[in-house]
Amino acid sequence: AENGYRLWLRYEPLETTQQNALKERIRQVVIPEQSSVMQSAAAELTKALPAMLQTPIQRAQSLNAPGIVVITATHPYAKQLGLRQDMSTLGEEGYLLRTVKHQNKMMVVVAGKNDAGALYGTYALLRLLQTGNDLTNLNVREAPSFAHRLLNHWDNLNGTVERGYAGHSIWWNVNLNADSIIARHEDYARANASIGINGTVLNNVNATPQMLTSEYLEKVAVIAGRLRPYHIKVYLSINFSSPKELGGIENSDPLNPQVAQWWKEKATEIYRLIPDFGGFLVKANSEGLPGPQDYGRTHADGANMLADALKPHGGLVMWRAFVYNPTPEDRAKQAYSEFKPLDGQFRDNVIVQVKNGPIDFQPREPFSPMFGAMEKTPLMMEFQITQEYLGHSNHLVYLAPMYKEVLDADTYCKGTGSTVAKTLDGSIYPHQHTAIAGVSNIGRDANWCGHDIAQSNWYAYGRLAWNHQLTSEQIADEWVRMTFSNQAEVVTPISSMMMASHQTCVDYSMPLGLHHIMGWDHHYGPEPWTEFPGARADWLPQYYHQASASGLGFDRTDKGSNATAQYAEPLRSQLNDATTCPEGYLLWFHHLPWDYPMKSGRTLWHELIERYHVGTNNVRGFQRTWDSMEGMVDAERFKAVQYKLKIQARDAIWWRDACLLYFQTFSKRPIPLEYERPIHD
Ligand code: GCU
Repeated sequence: AENGYRLWLRYEPLETTQQNALKERIRQVVIPEQSSVMQSAAAELTKALPAMLQTPIQRAQSLNAPGIVVITATHPYAKQLGLRQDMSTLGEEGYLLRTVKHQNKMMVVVAGKNDAGALYGTYALLRLLQTGNDLTNLNVREAPSFAHRLLNHWDNLNGTVERGYAGHSIWWNVNLNADSIIARHEDYARANASIGINGTVLNNVNATPQMLTSEYLEKVAVIAGRLRPYHIKVYLSINFSSPKELGGIENSDPLNPQVAQWWKEKATEIYRLIPDFGGFLVKANSEGLPGPQDYGRTHADGANMLADALKPHGGLVMWRAFVYNPTPEDRAKQAYSEFKPLDGQFRDNVIVQVKNGPIDFQPREPFSPMFGAMEKTPLMMEFQITQEYLGHSNHLVYLAPMYKEVLDADTYCKGTGSTVAKTLDGSIYPHQHTAIAGVSNIGRDANWCGHDIAQSNWYAYGRLAWNHQLTSEQIADEWVRMTFSNQAEVVTPISSMMMASHQTCVDYSMPLGLHHIMGWDHHYGPEPWTEFPGARADWLPQYYHQASASGLGFDRTDKGSNATAQYAEPLRSQLNDATTCPEGYLLWFHHLPWDYPMKSGRTLWHELIERYHVGTNNVRGFQRTWDSMEGMVDAERFKAVQYKLKIQARDAIWWRDACLLYFQTFSKRPIPLEYERPIHD
């Protein structure tokens, strides 16, 4: 299982010509500063370089031979190497990579704004080597798009992982002192530092009060100690009822002074154990969890009370906007309805964490209308890396194109070009804090993510959190090179398959804006028909697909729920009109007759059939592509991915046939003969 465990940090020997060129250039490594983060950079270089160059590399103290120099802006070498000026304007945690001539010797310089920047620069340099670069004329200048780049682990204290498909938790119900766990934690930290992640929430948003007991906080301190040398802060999800449950206080009302005092003391206790603790992530008044509304208070009251407790220690509150109730209001509108009126009421150390779409991580959703709409409140993106609605760890679905679709979408909040990313990264609304979160797909499986290719989603999330302007293609290319091979015969087919995979999954599962028609509770496979007497309407698929003799789709136009009104013009009108609404979101916003004419010239019914077929056929194409990789990638990962693709191909047919046969009971139209026949049981 070694192969999958090594992720993208494999450091395989480079090609001989590249090796020879580099052996001249890199005769030593100089890392004069001593912080633990600098030591991590040093350790990574001393692990990677000898392996890639197949020669021992000396650590040295002075610049008397050509080699790699890693420094921060304040080190005297920065001046000696002529970089001080350039570094003065570099963003926080940023770095420069330069080849500089010093006393007639070429130096490859990694210069970080601070030691974190130096660590990120070191990994960037290694990435260039791993992907076939020879380090001539380096001129790279980078700083992160978002200041706080987090993973959210939905890990329970009993070791299970909510919506986790890669085994049990790496944090909980483990022996923290076992060698294998210590190694996991260190390798986790290395992998995250290599892509710029600087924070991690260690427990499920559905948090138990127990998390904040001293027994558990001591464990958190141990974990924090392991991540600190890689510049990763720990955060915790908290249960809003903790004061009542743990402190024996009569309630957890945020305006009760005893409650506020309890949180202050808890914060002090936490920071005594973990001085650089990041803060709290809060799911409140959502899906049955307690919150300030239980006491007639608002989300702002709740968030601010916690913010005040954390403020003296520099901590943040990440307050989630994933809220909805079984009310007559369209679920897609509820978060905006609840939060928009609170804009301007939050403390400056509160960030509101918003899922990318207005419902819940569906295969494709339009962006949440909250983005761009909250001018006075910093918002942060919550993406899902774990594939809750995307075939769990069985389906190959590369998510960078989906993340990019959301980040690059235009909100028009301040005119054309007001992309979602720009509403979050400080360029449109200059807030003190900018942040992004991804719900982790990591577990104790040997290959971390269950599916070897799912590692690319962890990687892509991190790369986009660092720089949201990178393209999906670029990220796929570098990931495949580092994870499998630099050979074009491997890079091209695997990355093209990855690039097509998200649209393919949308096509075989929920095409044309369909959503929430997956299996009840487990969320795997199709169940557009599910009915449960007495169940909440907004948990049932009919609520979302609205299939009937008259047609298919949810009318969210001004004639329906009017969710389109939550978007800025001209997007609002564009979405509101079926002829201008992008077809990918068509049935999200419109209820249309089965014979509605699509852009392809097909009717809606016929187009639906087409999409499901394209999806299933593409997966068969992926199987052929992957089969051609035999012998080009190691047998272990080759077989594992081949096996998973078999499951995916079968599941795609299951989705196609189940959905088409079900919707046919309403459309009463035939499936044309040119299509493969659905399989009746
Ligand atoms: C989804 C998911 C839950 C999760 C929730 C959340 O509904 O199915 O498991 O708790 O999102 O994000 O809070």
